[in-house]
Amino acid sequence: MKSFLITAFILLSGFLFSQTEKTQLPLIPQPNYVAIAQGSFTLSDSTVIVAGEDQFEANYLKSYLKENYGLELRIDSHYPPFKNFISLLTLISNDGGNSNKEFYDLKITTKGIAIKANANEGFFYALQTLFQLMPLDTSVRRTVPCLQIYDSPRYLWRGMHLDCSRHFFSKDEVKKYIDYIAMYKMNTFHWHLTDDQGWRIEIKKYPLLTQISSQRKETVIGKPVDKKGQPLKDVKYDNKPYGGFYTQDEIKEVVAYASERHITVVPEIEMPGHSLAALAAYPQLSCIGGPFEPRTTWGVSDELFCAGNDSSFYFLQDIISEVIDLFPGKYIHIGGDECPKVRWQKCPKCQNRIKEEHLKDEHQLQSYFITRMEKFINDKGRQIIGWDEILEGGLAPNATVMSWRGIKGGIEAAKQNHTVVMSPGKPCYFDHYQVKDRTNEPLAIGGFNPIDSVYNYDPTPVTLSEDQKKYILGAQGNVWTEYILDFKQVEYMAIPRMPALAEALWTKPENKNYRNFIERLKTHSRVLDKKHTNYAKHFKLNTTSK
Ligand code: ACM
Ligand code: ZN
Repeated sequence: MKSFLITAFILLSGFLFSQTEKTQLPLIPQPNYVAIAQGSFTLSDSTVIVAGEDQFEANYLKSYLKENYGLELRIDSHYPPFKNFISLLTLISNDGGNSNKEFYDLKITTKGIAIKANANEGFFYALQTLFQLMPLDTSVRRTVPCLQIYDSPRYLWRGMHLDCSRHFFSKDEVKKYIDYIAMYKMNTFHWHLTDDQGWRIEIKKYPLLTQISSQRKETVIGKPVDKKGQPLKDVKYDNKPYGGFYTQDEIKEVVAYASERHITVVPEIEMPGHSLAALAAYPQLSCIGGPFEPRTTWGVSDELFCAGNDSSFYFLQDIISEVIDLFPGKYIHIGGDECPKVRWQKCPKCQNRIKEEHLKDEHQLQSYFITRMEKFINDKGRQIIGWDEILEGGLAPNATVMSWRGIKGGIEAAKQNHTVVMSPGKPCYFDHYQVKDRTNEPLAIGGFNPIDSVYNYDPTPVTLSEDQKKYILGAQGNVWTEYILDFKQVEYMAIPRMPALAEALWTKPENKNYRNFIERLKTHSRVLDKKHTNYAKHFKLNTTSK
């Protein structure tokens, strides 16, 4: 029915559509249907925003136009949308309210701008499109071209991750990161809050987590390993204490900010491994009892929560209870990755647990650990997501898998009818180098992940059956920060790979074109310049894969 309507619309209204004309619109991600018409609409001080006065999107639009174009527009739900208007009207769905929340219909005529959507998500995305269409030079007329766009995303999970443990980024920097996620119509922010090198979230019941675990006494300088990944002998440290954490009030502020932008924040609390910083404050929850300190170099610690000690579970359950109160989203990320088993192998309590629970080995003990935490989290109405190691020893019954060691784990999970977020190192780790010639690049963790690989990524493995493909929720770009020292460098590593991934996840394959994307990115880079974003500029030289 929709395609009939679109065809009829094109025939009746004389709207034209071609790939060349798409190129002229500096939109990222590329919308899934665009028709350009003759003429334009010019916003003025007398343009009226037709919407409810308390609607977030209407006020967001109003502030954007005031801040960027000096326009003072009135919001009026009774103004008839015939002339000089920007209307935000909810579509009356005929399927019991199940219509796609992220769909929007943006129509610009010489009379005004009509936005229709089923829900606020759609309005928000229509506004992102409108903002990208507005002229950058705010001193000229505020004119946008006549057109019609029908648009909705290909994937449900369009995520970006940020590691705030290895290096800490302030609440305001995190909000800036969320602004980029919003601009590219992504909808998930995976906040990596705990790791061996630092605990970054205030937990009221356990104040030592912020007093001790959030601080490391110094940080390794440069790479602690040689070209083959072997530890170096003469590692140097900077002798500077490093730390930071978010108070619960700051977390609430970030979550609310993201939520207004229709971005779900998924907090990650690592267990049972990657937990040395927590164990530095509560060593009695480890297998060997400590003493420990937060890790000052990169790589993985052997220390982990003792799985034979019930107190480990009670401690983590208390933490998760506070986390659940702070983060209203469906998913809690429990980590689960890179969990060395050497301590468990030697620990009498862990070995006793294996015997009592009739487990085969330490892999099954890890599965026991995750499943026990999953039950607690499920009982509170939430769902766990974990790195693909949680498949080892048996997947917890309701877990979602985030596949990072390639796509094998994701395929395996989908075959077991579990939902999956794809995040394979290549091309989803944005801490890798983005060009082959590293001469002028800041030190990175290694690897090579150019923008065209990111752009061309299709998260749905062709080897899955049509039924299994439905378990692939989408994908996520990860920004690990061992070698990313400040927020300027976060921008450099994330952008433009973030918009490339955004288009891979939003735009249907038949509407994607890499060359066309690069042309749009060149135009769009003026927006980034205006924001003083420290993005990587290799794409301007067309040398991205070299
Ligand atoms: C990971 O990169 N250890 C998930
Ligand atoms: Zn133990």
